[in-house]
Amino acid sequence: MPLHSAVALFYAAASLFAIVGAEDPYRFYSWNVTYGDIYPLGVRQTGLLINGQFPGPDIHSVTNDNLIINVYNNLNESFLLSWNGVQQRRNSYEDGVYGTTCPIPPGKNFTYMLQVKDQIGSFYYYPSLGFHKAAGGFGGIRILSRPRIPVPFPDPAGDYTVLIGDWYKSNHTVLYIFSN
Ligand SMILES: *[C@@H]1O[C@H](CO)[C@@H](O)[C@H](O)[C@H]1NC(C)=O
Ligand SMILES: *[C@@H]1O[C@H](CO)[C@@H](O)[C@H](O)[C@H]1NC(C)=O
Ligand SMILES: *[C@@H]1O[C@H](CO)[C@@H](O)[C@H](O)[C@H]1NC(C)=O
Ligand SMILES: *[C@@H]1O[C@H](CO)[C@@H](O)[C@H](O)[C@H]1NC(C)=O
Repeated sequence: MPLHSAVALFYAAASLFAIVGAEDPYRFYSWNVTYGDIYPLGVRQTGLLINGQFPGPDIHSVTNDNLIINVYNNLNESFLLSWNGVQQRRNSYEDGVYGTTCPIPPGKNFTYMLQVKDQIGSFYYYPSLGFHKAAGGFGGIRILSRPRIPVPFPDPAGDYTVLIGDWYKSNHTVLYIFSN
């Protein structure tokens, strides 16, 4: 093989490697968890808000995305988020269930680092401690297919997050005490 062909082949191979080896995209979130008034049954009660929102913000992602979620716990109790249905590849310690992940102490922050991979669809996150789930702190997660792997159906005409749960007129502290 002439030298210039070998060099061209080398560059072709190198550029292919660079494309294949490109790092997966990152999405960064900063979430502030606070108490706030909610009225799920028309009665005021203390709820858990994320960035002032109840339910919390949706995560829109694409398969292979790295999700970097810095969560500030501004409650006066520990807080822990779980990522329901999201496969935790090589990082089960980020799953957010008590026993695999340490809770975020009051006044502290923790950065969850997840990579959504090999799955598409609708999922949700929720707080896994102390009946917090009855008071908010949850929201939707969407994982779309990458454009280069088209799904075999047309894009939906609309896309909404629907979260279904039980509601109470007592706050999570009271519910927790009565459940124990
Ligand atoms: C979170 O919200 C509280 C109440 O609004 C505020 O005092 C605090 O500075 C906020 N923290 C961050 C990190 O945004
Ligand atoms: C924590 O904050 C809530 C809401 O402001 C309050 O009702 C509760 O008494 C506080 N608990 C402690 C231990 O300070
Ligand atoms: C807490 O947030 C700061 C940025 O405000 C960040 O530099 C730090 O890494 C975070 N700590 C943890 C444990 O995630
Ligand atoms: C929940 O309600 C009880 C009784 O009213 C109160 O003592 C407690 O501080 C409340 N907890 C929160 C987090 O608001």
